[in-house]
Amino acid sequence: MTVPESIKQEVLELRRQIEHHNRLYHTLNAPGIPDADYDSLLARLETLERQYNLLTPDSPTQRVGAEPLTQFNQVTHEVAMLSLDKVSSEQELIDFEARIMKRLNDQRQLEYSCEPKVDGVAVGLLYRDGILKRAATRGDGVIGEDITHNVRTIRTIPLRINMLPEQSLIEVRGEVFLGKKGFMRLNERAEKEGGKVFVNPRNTAAGAIRQLDSRNTAKIPLQMYCYSIGVVQGIELPDKLSSVFGKLAEWGLPVNPEQRTEQGIAGCLKYCMQLLNKRNTLEYEIDGAVVKVDDLKAQNKLGQNTKSPRWAMAYKFPAEEKSTKVLDVEFQVGRTGTITPVARLEPVFVGGVTVSNTTLHNMNEIERLGLCIGDTVVIRRAGDVIPKVVKVINSKRSTKYKAVNIPEDCPACGSIIEKDGEVLYRCSAGITCPAQRKESIKHFASRMAMDIEGLGDKLVEILVEQNLIGSVADIYELSTEKLSGLERMGLKSANNLIRAIEKSKDTSLQRFLLALGIREVGEATAAALVNHFGDLQLIQDASTEKLEKISDIGPIVAQHIHTFFANKQNQVLIAELQHSGIQWSKIDISADDKPLRGLTYVLTGTLGSIVRNEAKARLLLNGANVAGSVSSNTDVVVAGSGAGSKLKKAQELGIEVIDEEEFLTLLDTLNL
Ligand code: IVH
Repeated sequence: MTVPESIKQEVLELRRQIEHHNRLYHTLNAPGIPDADYDSLLARLETLERQYNLLTPDSPTQRVGAEPLTQFNQVTHEVAMLSLDKVSSEQELIDFEARIMKRLNDQRQLEYSCEPKVDGVAVGLLYRDGILKRAATRGDGVIGEDITHNVRTIRTIPLRINMLPEQSLIEVRGEVFLGKKGFMRLNERAEKEGGKVFVNPRNTAAGAIRQLDSRNTAKIPLQMYCYSIGVVQGIELPDKLSSVFGKLAEWGLPVNPEQRTEQGIAGCLKYCMQLLNKRNTLEYEIDGAVVKVDDLKAQNKLGQNTKSPRWAMAYKFPAEEKSTKVLDVEFQVGRTGTITPVARLEPVFVGGVTVSNTTLHNMNEIERLGLCIGDTVVIRRAGDVIPKVVKVINSKRSTKYKAVNIPEDCPACGSIIEKDGEVLYRCSAGITCPAQRKESIKHFASRMAMDIEGLGDKLVEILVEQNLIGSVADIYELSTEKLSGLERMGLKSANNLIRAIEKSKDTSLQRFLLALGIREVGEATAAALVNHFGDLQLIQDASTEKLEKISDIGPIVAQHIHTFFANKQNQVLIAELQHSGIQWSKIDISADDKPLRGLTYVLTGTLGSIVRNEAKARLLLNGANVAGSVSSNTDVVVAGSGAGSKLKKAQELGIEVIDEEEFLTLLDTLNL
């Protein structure tokens, strides 16, 4: 078929435009055109390619996946794909530099390229005459697998690099990975659709890159950062690795924005520490930093060992996943009687701390994991997040495993355990159960509630066990004499505690409501109640219908609030507490003196120094609305680190955006 020149030109122009928008969208996070316009460019290209038989492997239409393969072809790497030596201490990194200085026989300060060690899969991209001809896995370093069909679906990888000359050949290597958000979205979808959930981003990326059917790979939002070069022919490269990265970026290849050039190993160590601090705010998982001699001639001179170059070193961060053994599963009784299974573990160092127990949440979770006592499990702890069991290693199950069963009686008081809804179990005893009593007192004294300094969890346990307090009202009956009889409680500490208890009496209605421990009433709901009613008696008297009028309060929460205040025991408790002197300033909800009245805020990203619910509560108490999504009605967006689509939308709509520091300054100026 002869194809008119105008069609050929149109196809080329469409490809150019689509790849340009791919780059804007996926690499620069700044979409240039609406999704619908992009879709119509792609649709037009597909039509022309089909109609005129113009399909080529470098066409962006190929990014959605192609016909499945029956097997992977083997690929021999012309330049072996090496691995990295690893260290995990400062001293070892210093020793590394001493070794290379000696080998180079040069005492001048070295420059290094420092990069995050992204936790994914190593891949080599071979461009011949600027066209992506082949992509391969590392395999054993010499022979890998041809995964070109899957790599074409990764939108940040150019299928064609126009800046590369004819007759050129270059292999660019890097790490293919899945970002944290992409991973979370996949799992949310899998859970909703009842599919299998993925264990971690690395395994998901490794599975996706080894699909025979690339249409499956196309569904996973894989990304890549390039970090080295294999074979090169017909291209003049700069003589420093950091400048090579500059070239790669110019060609449109993705290079890690965290890459830095550092002076000497001292500079590298500083980089490693900064990266470790930043680890949790990055949008992808890393397991360390990589330090590489920047000068390529020096790299050449240093050469390699059997499997790894002498000019590079991985500085490993503490692993965020480790395996360990489940010694037992115990059941804890919470503040409202919920029974929570907790795994007792063989202590394991993970994510920078030693973990010896972890919550299993509920019986459904145990069933989902297929967990038995005696099993070997994978524990994950990233950042400050509570450690969790991600999976059971079935191949390591011994013959001595034991199923986990929910007990019939409460482990704290022996009362019957009842099923509550689909997944929860609850001790039927209520506040007479010592465990529930302890938990509700701990909650009452906690920082966000009555904020009684010095009345920590351990002390509450002792006070309840020694019968010095039986309910939260008894806290206000404590005296220095009663306290100073306790083990390891000196007169000074006792006095301090009594003073803190006295101080807590001057509080706010919001804190008091939170402290009461009404089911499902956290900081934000307490703030919403205060904002709406302004008076405790009005809240106590409110019908469920009235409560449901408040946005954020649904029928279930309304019922919990109503039931709580209808209970005679609770009414007596509130009266006792008020009688002991707990008070707060009167709130006039009709007075329009709230500084943020009428303004709608949206919180997004991670706030480092304030818990999100606390931030929300403070905004609500000052009269603001707090919405979950950005729209033209939004007045201010508070963008923490790692903020994504909501921030982008706010910028598009021209809405005021403030960062965490500005937000904290704002909170400082508010009085509630
Ligand atoms: S350089 C010849 N740089 O870590 C140098 N590797 O444990 C070879 N990796 O196989 C690798 N981020 O898959 C290099 N910035 C980075 C890296 C990186 C992740 C992976 C890579 C390698 C493995 C070695």
